[in-house]
Amino acid sequence: MATPLILLVLSSVLLWTPSFSIFDGLRAGSCLSVEAPADVLTSPDGSFSAGFHPVGQNAYSFAIWFNKPTCSGISCTIVWMANRDQPVNGRSSKLCQLRSGNLVLEDADHIVVWETKVVSATPTQLKLGNGGNLVLLDSEGLVLWQSYDSPTDTLLPLQPFNANSNLISSRSQGNYSSGFYRLYFDTDNVLSLVYKGPEFSSVYWPSPWLLTWEAGRSTYNNTKLAVLDSLGNFSSTDNLTFLSADYGSKISRMLKMDFDGNLRLYSLQEDGQVWVVSWEAFPQPCMVHGCCGPNTICLYTPSFGRKCSCSPGYKQRKPDDWSLGCEPEFLLSCNQTGQLDFLKLRHVEFYGYDFNMYPNVTLEECKQICLQMCDCRGFQFRFIKAHESDGTYCYPKSQLLNGHRPPNFNADFYVKLPKAAVSSYVDTVKYPELHCSNQVEQLQRKYTRTHANESLRFGLWTACAVGGVELITILLVWIFFIRTNDKPSPNAGYLLATTGFRKFTFAELKKATNRFSEEIGRGAGGIVYKATLSDGRVAAIKRLIDANKGEAEFLAEVNTIGKLNHMNLIDMWGYCGEGKHRLLVYEYMEHGSLAENLYSKSLDWDKRFDIALGTARGLAYLHEECLEWVLHCDIKPQNILIDSKYQPKVSDFGLAWLLNRGDVKYSKFSRIRGTRGYMAPEWVFNLPITSKVDVYSYGILLLELVTGKSPAAGIQVGDDGSSETQRTLVTWVRGQMAGALETETWTHEIIDPKLEGVYDEAQMVTVVNVALRCVQEDKDERPTMGEVVEMLFRDGSL
Ligand SMILES: *[C@@H]1O[C@H](CO)[C@@H](O)[C@H](O)[C@H]1NC(C)=O
Ligand SMILES: *[C@@H]1O[C@H](CO)[C@@H](O)[C@H](O)[C@H]1NC(C)=O
Ligand SMILES: *[C@@H]1O[C@H](CO)[C@@H](O)[C@H](O)[C@H]1NC(C)=O
Ligand SMILES: *[C@@H]1O[C@H](CO)[C@@H](O)[C@H](O)[C@H]1NC(C)=O
Ligand SMILES: *[C@@H]1O[C@H](CO)[C@@H](O)[C@H](O)[C@H]1NC(C)=O
Ligand SMILES: *[C@@H]1O[C@H](CO)[C@@H](O)[C@H](O)[C@H]1NC(C)=O
Repeated sequence: MATPLILLVLSSVLLWTPSFSIFDGLRAGSCLSVEAPADVLTSPDGSFSAGFHPVGQNAYSFAIWFNKPTCSGISCTIVWMANRDQPVNGRSSKLCQLRSGNLVLEDADHIVVWETKVVSATPTQLKLGNGGNLVLLDSEGLVLWQSYDSPTDTLLPLQPFNANSNLISSRSQGNYSSGFYRLYFDTDNVLSLVYKGPEFSSVYWPSPWLLTWEAGRSTYNNTKLAVLDSLGNFSSTDNLTFLSADYGSKISRMLKMDFDGNLRLYSLQEDGQVWVVSWEAFPQPCMVHGCCGPNTICLYTPSFGRKCSCSPGYKQRKPDDWSLGCEPEFLLSCNQTGQLDFLKLRHVEFYGYDFNMYPNVTLEECKQICLQMCDCRGFQFRFIKAHESDGTYCYPKSQLLNGHRPPNFNADFYVKLPKAAVSSYVDTVKYPELHCSNQVEQLQRKYTRTHANESLRFGLWTACAVGGVELITILLVWIFFIRTNDKPSPNAGYLLATTGFRKFTFAELKKATNRFSEEIGRGAGGIVYKATLSDGRVAAIKRLIDANKGEAEFLAEVNTIGKLNHMNLIDMWGYCGEGKHRLLVYEYMEHGSLAENLYSKSLDWDKRFDIALGTARGLAYLHEECLEWVLHCDIKPQNILIDSKYQPKVSDFGLAWLLNRGDVKYSKFSRIRGTRGYMAPEWVFNLPITSKVDVYSYGILLLELVTGKSPAAGIQVGDDGSSETQRTLVTWVRGQMAGALETETWTHEIIDPKLEGVYDEAQMVTVVNVALRCVQEDKDERPTMGEVVEMLFRDGSL
C-alpha cells in the first residue's frame, strides 16, 4: 500500500518543482539527468528544447524537439536524436559536458552510448540555438561540434544538407530507431531516395524509369549542397527546387524523411497545434520501394490509405510486419515444368529484376521462356506502342518486388504457380476496392471470343467516347463486369436484397411520383421527378428517355452502378426496367444541385471548399478505385447535388452506359460527351478519351465555384472600357493572375462577389492553382483525381 503513496508524493513534488530551463547552455563539468524532466536546454526564443525524451518503456533518447505543438516532454515533434538506435535506461542515465571538451551520453551503468569525441584545451559550452541547432562551442565561440552536421530524419530551415548528410527514416510511427529509407546525394550528385532493406536495396526517387535530366535533375555540379530557406524555398545543386505550398515568412517548417518512405515538407499551422504537409516527393505511396516487402502487391486508395496483400500463392511471413513481405505456399521445382502454370494479375507491375527483355514474342512464347528458367517467378507482358516499333514485350523476373497497380498501366503480370494453385484460385483476389475488382479473375474465365466483339462494339458506343487504346483497356475491364452480371435472375435477387437496392414496378413508381406530377429537373437523357416511396422515403426518380436497351442488359448495368457506394456519390436505391420503361430511383437531396445553390447566397467559402474536396473524392473513387472504368463525362454544377449538411454528391455517373445509342448519330453522341464550357479539348480534337476528361471538367467547376461565373456564358470584360469581347473563364482567370503584381490583387478580382470578401485566401489560391492544372490542354499535364484530392486536402483543409 505504501508504494503508490510514495509515488504520488514523489510525482507531486516533481510537479511543484519550478520549471527550470537552461537557456544559457550546459557548462563544462555539468550534466543533464534523465530523471529530472525539467533538465532541458531551451533555445533563446523558446521554440526548441533539448533533453531526454521517452522512446519506449523505460527507454530514453537524447533529443531536440519543437516546443509546439505543446508536448511537455512526451510525444514531442522530434527533429534530432543523439542515440536513436540505442536508447538509455530511465534511471541514472545522463548527458555530461566533460571538462576535456567531450560531450557524452551515459547509460545507467556508465556505459557511453554516444559522444561527440571533441577535445578542447579551453572550457566548452553546449547551447541550443534558435534554429534548433545544438552546438558545442569553445570559449572563443568557435563551433567544435553541431547537431546540424548529423541530422537524423529531419532537416530544418537553413540547415545545410551536403555530401555527408543522410536523412534516415524512423522504423515506424512510434519507433524512432533507424528505418529503411534514406535521402542522400548519390555518386551522380543527384539527391535521391533509396530503400535499403534487409535483403535488397533500390533507388526509387527520382523515378528510376526517368533519365536524370528527364526528372529535371542535373548531374554536373559536384558541390552537393541543398538547403531549405526560411520562406520555404528548397534548392539543391542538382537543380531540384521546390517551394512550400504556403511559401512565406514566420512559419515553422521541417523537411522529414517519413517512416513510410516519402519525403515531406511540413508547416506548422498558425494555431501552433498541427503540422500540415506543404510538399511531398511523390503522391503515390505504392511507388515507395520496399513498402510492402517481397512477393506482395501494394494498393493505395484515398479512403483506405496504403494496403499490402500477398501475391496469389504466397502467405505473409510475419503478421503485423509487412516489411518482411510474403513467402511462397508452394515449392517450385524445376524438373516439373508440366505442373506449372501462370495466373494473370491484371494491371499489376513488379519492379525490376528482369532476366532479360524479349521483344516481339507471343504470350505463349513468353510463358515458355519463363518455364524454362528455373528461377523465373513470373513475367510482365506488355504491348508498347511506339512510332516505329509497335510490339509486345516479355520481361521474365527473378524477384517479385514492389508489386503495385500504377494508374493507367496497360500491362499485366503473370505469376508462376503450380497448376493446382492456379485452378483453385478463382474467388480469392482480395483487393480492397470490392465494388469493382474482386471479380476480375473470375470473369476472365467466362470471356469468350464471340461475346468479345459484340461487347466491344457495345462498349465503344455506349461509353462516352470513341477510339484510343487506353479507352479499350478501360472498356475491357468494364466488359468483364457486365459478363458476371449477365444472368440477373436468382443471384441478382439475393444481391439486391442484401444491399437494400431493389427493383420497383412501374405502377409503384407511378404512384410514388403521383403520376409523374412533380418535375424537379431535366438532364442527361431523362426527366427527374420527386417521389415518396411506400416506406415513406423521399426519392428522386429519373425516367430515361431514350434508353431502349434490353431489360437484362439494363439490369446488369444498373446493378453495377448500384453497387458503387461512397459518401460523395449519390445513392441509387433501385430501378425499374419493365417493358419499355427505364427508371432509376435515387435518394432525394433537399438542397438541390450545386448549380441552384451557386447562384443564390447559400454557399459561404467553407461550404464551397468542402464541395470542391468532396466532389474530387467522389470522382477519385469512380476513377481510381475502380480501375478507371467509370468515366463520368458530364461533370457540371447541375450534376453535383448537395445534401442537408452541404456535402456534395456526384450524380448521373454511369449514365453514359445506360443510354442506349443503337446507331451512332452525331446528335445523340454530342449529348453524352459533355456540356459546352466544361468539355475537354480531347472531344474536339478527337483524341483518346481517358479519365482526364473528367479532370478537365472538374477544373472548370472549381473555377466556377471560386468566381461564381458560368463558363458557358463567357465572361464580359469591359469595365475598363478596353475590351468588350467575351473570353472563356479559363483565359480570364489566367489573365487576371498574370496581370496582377500581388496575390491579393488577383484573388480580389476573381473571387465571387457574392462572398463579399469573406474567404480564406490561401485556400482559394490552392483551389485556383489546382483548377488551372486540371484544365491544361494536354491531358497528361493534368493531375489525376486522386492527386487533386491530395493537393486540396493537404494544402487547403485542416
Ligand atoms: C524498434 O524497431 C527495432 C528494429 O525492428 C527493434 O529492435 C526495437 O525493439 C523497436 N523498438 C521499440 C521501442 O519498439
Ligand atoms: C535547371 O532547371 C532550369 C529550369 O528548371 C533549367 O532552365 C536549367 O537548364 C536547369 N539546369 C541544369 C544544369 O540542368
Ligand atoms: C554548383 O553549385 C554551387 C552552389 O549553388 C555554385 O556556386 C556553383 O557555381 C555550381 N557549379 C557549377 C559548375 O555549376
Ligand atoms: C529559391 O532559391 C533559388 C536558389 O537560391 C533561387 O534561384 C530561386 O529564385 C528562389 N525562388 C524563389 C521563388 O525565391
Ligand atoms: C525433381 O528433382 C528433385 C531434386 O532435384 C527430386 O528430388 C525429384 O524427385 C525430382 N522429381 C521428378 C518428378 O523428377
Ligand atoms: C517487331 O516486329 C515488327 C514486325 O515484324 C517489326 O517491325 C518491329 O521492328 C519488331 N520490333 C522489335 C523491337 O524487334
